[in-house]
Amino acid sequence: MISKLLSPKTITEYDRAITHLFLRYDIDSESNNNLEDICKKNNINTNLLVDLAECYNNINLAKNKTFESYQILDLIDYLEKSHSYYLNKRIPEIEQSLDKSFLHEKHSFNLLFIKFFKEYKKDIVIHFKNEEQNLFPFCKVLVNYSKTNSQENLIYLLENKNNVLNQLKNHQKNSEEINNLQRLLINYKVDSKKLSFFEVFLNQMSIFQKDLNIHAEIEDHVLTNKVLNLMEELDLKDV
Ligand SMILES: [Fe+2]
Ligand SMILES: [Fe+2]
Repeated sequence: MISKLLSPKTITEYDRAITHLFLRYDIDSESNNNLEDICKKNNINTNLLVDLAECYNNINLAKNKTFESYQILDLIDYLEKSHSYYLNKRIPEIEQSLDKSFLHEKHSFNLLFIKFFKEYKKDIVIHFKNEEQNLFPFCKVLVNYSKTNSQENLIYLLENKNNVLNQLKNHQKNSEEINNLQRLLINYKVDSKKLSFFEVFLNQMSIFQKDLNIHAEIEDHVLTNKVLNLMEELDLKDV
């Protein structure tokens, strides 16, 4: 059980993958201060961060009521920070391992994976861009409209709602593609005493997949429900 009274150092010793969650919030995983103090100082929602960290051990938490109480804007903040972390740090690191494997190890499947990863990255970039250009702005305007009742917001919401509702409905499809990738990766596991670059790549991919799955579950189950409920509350759903 992860607690906000524990330090990032203790939490990440329990599960190294949580380092990646902390990094996108600029939290040093080696810090011995307790998480609550760090979050207070940096204006981070501590409970949300603890619940997200818990998802690394139990992804089903994202599907139940655990996240219901969080504000849409806090969830969007997590999703935006994650996109940026994945694109600017995680994917380049994984790509580097694959390039090293190609340069230094003569696996017959190297080229296949490089080609595969290129396509996979292209899909992710398009997916993220679409959310950043349509879904996230819509959510922010929706929240603003709920507070201000602005006519300008209302016009924007009415103009964009069908597109966003479709995007939310079709989101699950992307998660399935990720599962297909996972199956493919399992088949290519190799055995050796010293970790080869390719094994490092596999390892990084498996942690990244887990992270992406949590991210997608938050979008599918938590954000979608909250957005649909708020639209209903504001009489926007069937207009
Ligand atoms: Fe996303
Ligand atoms: Fe997504």
